[in-house]
Amino acid sequence: MSNKDKNEVETTGHSWDGIEEYNNPLPRWWLWTFYLCIVWAIGYSIAYPAWPLVKGATTGLLGYSTRAEVAADIQSFDDMNAAVEAELAAADITQIEPNSPLYDYATNAGAAVFRANCSQCHGSGAAGNVGYPNLLDNDWLWGGSIDEIAYTIKHGIRNETDDAHYSEMPRFGADELLEPEQIDQVVEFVLQISGSEFDTTLSSQGAVVFEENCSSCHAEDGTGDRDQGAPNLADAIWLYGGDRETIHETVTNARFGVMPAWGKRLSEAEVNAAAIYVHTRGGGE
Ligand code: HEC
Ligand code: HEC
Repeated sequence: MSNKDKNEVETTGHSWDGIEEYNNPLPRWWLWTFYLCIVWAIGYSIAYPAWPLVKGATTGLLGYSTRAEVAADIQSFDDMNAAVEAELAAADITQIEPNSPLYDYATNAGAAVFRANCSQCHGSGAAGNVGYPNLLDNDWLWGGSIDEIAYTIKHGIRNETDDAHYSEMPRFGADELLEPEQIDQVVEFVLQISGSEFDTTLSSQGAVVFEENCSSCHAEDGTGDRDQGAPNLADAIWLYGGDRETIHETVTNARFGVMPAWGKRLSEAEVNAAAIYVHTRGGGE
């Protein structure tokens, strides 16, 4: 810096080891922007929620809240869908034309209902888990027609409500209804009819045990009974598992799969939408 420049600016009078500090003022535009920001901030904190309090924050003169904004958004979508929701709630779901606008609406809405309420048990793709049936296949415990599915969703299974599907497999081992040998025998029989490897001698004895103790629910040929939600044992699809050990456990202690009654939590339209969605995905009958 030349001597001339140096002389134009006054110094603050501070000097460290001969180095002096200039007293340059802030640029005007910068200063004014700064003041404006302060004014704007004061205005903002009066108009909008701003200062934290012990509980919540100051509400602001305009009464604005992000929560209210979301609520209004949700309300506006509800209003938009009110007509089609009412139509869906009132519809006979067995009569809705596939690919009609109502049907398309229902499958989309049903997918959303499913993601929010069903996927934690049945899996996000509805393929199920141990104890939670796969809803994508053609194997139904309680029935796969659209109104049967709707009934199952609305009333649930083995829950505390009156209209829920109900049945109870006896605990053959735990309650000593069968001798341990008889259980071993019937397990081999189940392995046989489901197409797994089995012990021939035990299985032929097991056939008698099955006939006397199991066929009333699972049918003579083991293909199950939908009135009782008794699974088909003569296929390769298992709710709990088809290996020797798991079948042994099932016969010894039985199972008691519970599904909530969704009619208590979801609207009629949502139940119908979920039924249509499940029906479209699951090789519906
Ligand atoms: C808490 C876990 C749970 C949730 C959540 C749940 N389910 Fe289920 N669901 C079950 C169980 C367990 C069964 C099988 C009960 C049995 O063993 O009979 C079942 C059975 C079903 C069946 C009968 C399948 C058949 O083969 O007949 C349908 C349909 C069904 N669920 C649909 C739904 C829908 C739709 C939702 C969401 C609205 C849902 N479930 C949410 C646990 C659940
Ligand atoms: C009162 C009716 C009833 C009787 C009797 C009965 N079961 Fe069951 N069984 C059921 C029901 C219902 C289920 C499904 C339970 C559930 O989903 O929680 C089931 C489930 C099973 C399963 C599990 C199937 C799977 O997919 O994982 C096996 C195996 C089975 N039973 C074998 C037998 C055998 C063997 C006998 C006779 C010793 C028998 N059951 C007697 C009603 C019955």
